[in-house]
Amino acid sequence: MRSPRDPAARLETRDLFSKCAATVNLITCPQGGVATGMTATSVCSLSLDPPSALICVNREARTRDAIVRAGTFVINVLERAQDDIANHFSRPGSDKAIPAGLLSRDPRLAADLAEFPVLAGAAGALMCRLERVVDFGSHSIMIGLVDRVVGGPAGAEPLVYHDRKYVATLAEHLLPAAAEKGMLSALGW
Ligand SMILES: Cc1cc2nc3c(=O)[nH]c(=O)nc-3n(C[C@H](O)[C@H](O)[C@H](O)COP(=O)(O)O)c2cc1C
Repeated sequence: MRSPRDPAARLETRDLFSKCAATVNLITCPQGGVATGMTATSVCSLSLDPPSALICVNREARTRDAIVRAGTFVINVLERAQDDIANHFSRPGSDKAIPAGLLSRDPRLAADLAEFPVLAGAAGALMCRLERVVDFGSHSIMIGLVDRVVGGPAGAEPLVYHDRKYVATLAEHLLPAAAEKGMLSALGW
């Protein structure tokens, strides 16, 4: 049997993950008086009792230590038109400070923005308190207890990453493929 440390296993795993469509999020947290962000797809619902979610953050990403210091983070589900934000905040080494103008202008969130930087126009957001960090391999699993949930604009759809590119919506991407296979006509569409 091949060792999981085999470089080929690493590449094959990475390729397989690239075939898994995933919602794109901007993980934000306060850092030295400003909000900073990092693009992430390794985000998962964890439990409803208590409401919680997990994110997997590379241990070398600056965001990892920033979240540990802050003790809070926000999972901002990016809206389908926010691919420019996803691009900017995934660039290694780039300035990840979020201009105040990009943060939510909802007056109900104003008092909390310094602790929980919620992005304007996101499809939704989970304001989390860091509960636990589990280091594994290159990444840290960071578990957050949901403090508050922010709903997005009506009809907002998430940005999806698939096959190493952003797709506006999963439906838009998959429906033509399904039509080609005649699956939709079989459903009477
Ligand atoms: C679509 C996409 C998804 C990503 N998902 C993750 C992720 O889940 N976890 C992670 O650690 N990095 C992820 N990255 C890489 C980070 O966004 C990137 O390393 C970032 O520059 C780290 O910033 P920082 O070092 O300033 O914290 C992703 C990149 C892209 C393009």
